[in-house]
Amino acid sequence: MNKVNIDKFLSNKAKRMKASEIRELLKLTEKPDVISFAGGLPAPEVFPVREFEEAARYLLPRHGEVMLQYSTTEGFTPLREFLAGYMQKYNVPAEVENIQITTGSQQALDLVGKVFIDEGDYIITSKPTYLGALSAWTPFKPKYLTVNMDDDGMIVEEIEEHLKNHKVKFIYVLPNFHNPAGVTISEERRKKIVELADKYDTLIIEDDPYGELRFEGKYLVPLITLMKERVIYLSTFSKTLAPGTRIGWITAPKDILTKITQAKQGADLHTSTLDQWLVYDLCSRGILREHVKKIRALYKRRRDLMLKSLEDYMPKHPEIKWTRPQGGLFLWVSLPQKFNTYELLDKAVSKKVAFVPGAAFYPGRSEGFNTLRLNFSNAKEDDIVEGIRRLAELVKDELNK
Ligand SMILES: Cc1ncc(COP(=O)(O)O)c(C=O)c1O
Repeated sequence: MNKVNIDKFLSNKAKRMKASEIRELLKLTEKPDVISFAGGLPAPEVFPVREFEEAARYLLPRHGEVMLQYSTTEGFTPLREFLAGYMQKYNVPAEVENIQITTGSQQALDLVGKVFIDEGDYIITSKPTYLGALSAWTPFKPKYLTVNMDDDGMIVEEIEEHLKNHKVKFIYVLPNFHNPAGVTISEERRKKIVELADKYDTLIIEDDPYGELRFEGKYLVPLITLMKERVIYLSTFSKTLAPGTRIGWITAPKDILTKITQAKQGADLHTSTLDQWLVYDLCSRGILREHVKKIRALYKRRRDLMLKSLEDYMPKHPEIKWTRPQGGLFLWVSLPQKFNTYELLDKAVSKKVAFVPGAAFYPGRSEGFNTLRLNFSNAKEDDIVEGIRRLAELVKDELNK
């Protein structure tokens, strides 16, 4: 048989797809003796395994014929009703028709790409930003306009500058405990961002997987509460219950959701009926609420320990800094400019500790070489102390070179 050259059959979109750098890195760090702060994984030891088991045992004998059948693209109605109520808690006047269930928020990002992005369209993102959004959108060939952040989130003057100069399709906003940077957008800036979206007639994609995981500080209303007409809000049960269920949702105006539902039909017909039933059961029995309290307490302890370990072990240097997230899963470390955290990772893996080099989160990957992301939810307490100690030793060695 002749040899098949697959490359010549690939679409231009497929040629622009790349294996996520994080996934490749995770392979390196999956060895059991490596202390990994690299992934974005929730703590598996507190997954509500027994509660899922109870739900399946109770529901399957009674509703198995429906739970294992095809279902509607929009999603399981009781779950959508629950989510509409959940959004009303944020003062978002959502009805069932404003909720689309998705196969994780990652699918929501993909559908946003399909529905909104044509080649050459401008999108505003923070830098750094969520890598999964870049993977979902880059095949559609948008042009990324990037905005710096400080402790209060995206710098709004930079957003306005871009909006003045370009017709922008949407602003991509991570309101709470940014992945990867750990920062939260202040109340004032939230207001300003929606005002700008209105003034310059653009949309906002608000990606909020971590909002429920606030450990301290004042709760801030999402951008969709401030302007529901222009905001497409994405969230997920991945961080609050279990990512393996792959259940997320979009809250948006009905006319936008109609298009998104059409795009989803072509993607997967619908999200797993079985999983939606199980997740709904945990939500409706109050288990979600209790579970979130438990993981908030656990992640807060781990964040505190990571911050303390950084304080204890990292060399004192004006250019060595890290964020202090009030929730979520990540913190972000900046090192002196001379550092290249890709090279540091090679050394770190040989010392059996891992993180994600920050440049991976920059559209264009040409900045942020002195930065890195640390995950604090997935490592056990002893490993946090030991892992940060090893990392700090490496940083010290590099500084002294
Ligand atoms: C900002 C952000 N958006 C979306 C996702 C994807 O979440 P899901 O597991 O619901 O697909 C993640 C996952 O880490 C994330 O951090």
